[in-house]
Amino acid sequence: MKTLNVLGSTGSIGLNTLQVARENPSLFCVSGLAAGSKSELLEQQIREFSPKAVYLADEKGALGISSIFGKKLKVFTGLQGLREFSMFVEADILMAATTGTGSLVSVLDALGGGKKVALANKEILVVAGDLILSALKSNPSAVLVPVDSEHSAIFQCLQGSNQKYLDKIILTGSGGPLREISAEKFSSLKKEDVINHPKWKMGKKISVDSATLMNKGLEMIEAACLFGLPVDRIEVLIHPEAVIHSMVEFCDGSVLAQLGVTDMKLPIQYAMTYPDRVPVTASRRLDFSQIQEMHFALPDRKKFPCLDLAYAAARQSGSAPCVLSAADDVAVGAYLDDRIRFIQIPGIIEKVLSSHRTVPSPSLDDIQSIHDWATKETVKLCQAY
Ligand SMILES: NC(=O)c1ccc[n+]([C@@H]2O[C@H](COP(=O)([O-])OP(=O)(O)OC[C@H]3O[C@@H](n4cnc5c(N)ncnc54)[C@H](OP(=O)(O)O)[C@@H]3O)[C@@H](O)[C@H]2O)c1
Repeated sequence: MKTLNVLGSTGSIGLNTLQVARENPSLFCVSGLAAGSKSELLEQQIREFSPKAVYLADEKGALGISSIFGKKLKVFTGLQGLREFSMFVEADILMAATTGTGSLVSVLDALGGGKKVALANKEILVVAGDLILSALKSNPSAVLVPVDSEHSAIFQCLQGSNQKYLDKIILTGSGGPLREISAEKFSSLKKEDVINHPKWKMGKKISVDSATLMNKGLEMIEAACLFGLPVDRIEVLIHPEAVIHSMVEFCDGSVLAQLGVTDMKLPIQYAMTYPDRVPVTASRRLDFSQIQEMHFALPDRKKFPCLDLAYAAARQSGSAPCVLSAADDVAVGAYLDDRIRFIQIPGIIEKVLSSHRTVPSPSLDDIQSIHDWATKETVKLCQAY
């Protein structure tokens, strides 16, 4: 029985994580739940899982939770609260599934303390990949297992001694909701068209990133960091059926792929049970008789300029991916709030990137101040539009 702390329990990954815990009561005991603002959903989760502590970023909501559960439950809130909460819970497994960068310090603490981190939160790996890797290396008991389906696929293909022969990563992606829509129509897109991903049901931010292909760019940066390859040996390949979740090519030309149904519960469960595996029902298994064809194509980089912006930031390395991620976060938020148009997202990110002078090996303090700077710059640009 492992104790589990879920950061982002009310989100898409968080809900799937709790479903895996619900289905495996002899393996996981939920000891912490953290959310942003959905106090009613958090309240239901508290009643079901009886954690020893919770965190809610929204202070009013946290007060409400406190008054409902009284002394039986420790409730944390406020800017510093998430770190204090994670230290208090001290779970065997930390599921990092918030959006943004708020969970970075909790992840560094957990790895430094020799815990297992199941990492869904891609922003923190993009922004502070080197710091996360050094925290991982600082404690031989620490384990980092990626949750993103692509990185889980690569991680699974590289078990055993495979990593030393790795030549290339082939990062597959369905192409997102706009794959078949011409660029001329992008200016008149409705938000539903942008958010409705054809294969995966996800939170709004990552859904917009999938439509711009920024998500693939962020995943490429994550993969370079997690698997230690230069970005130019990470190829993005469009595979609309999303049956193959990614591939690795070895020095002898052999290619290994990981396949599975498009259900995030599978990579989530693998991260939670790693290095073991737990059986699943037929509905979560591939039925090859139903797969008529599989297609592959290179991405249209003109139509989706965010992909090249991510490659450029990754080549610059240092603080550039931090600026990319912060600018994307704000620009996508502004689009979701109807303050800018979909087609303006790449231009805004490019402007912020081009006005930043890269810091080669940023410290945690550098990252925090560069992230703040990029956030403010992007807010200003979005206001100007
Ligand atoms: N969804 C996917 O299939 C998928 C796949 C791969 C990777 N990822 C990555 O996983 C992360 C989560 O994605 P998602 O799709 O699950 O996002 P989501 O549905 O938007 O959920 C985000 C979660 O973070 C919580 N949160 C937001 N701000 C917070 C704060 N300040 N403190 C504590 N919790 C906070 C939210 O709480 P409230 O809802 O209560 O505000 C919610 O529980 C992202 O980094 C994403 O890129 C997601």
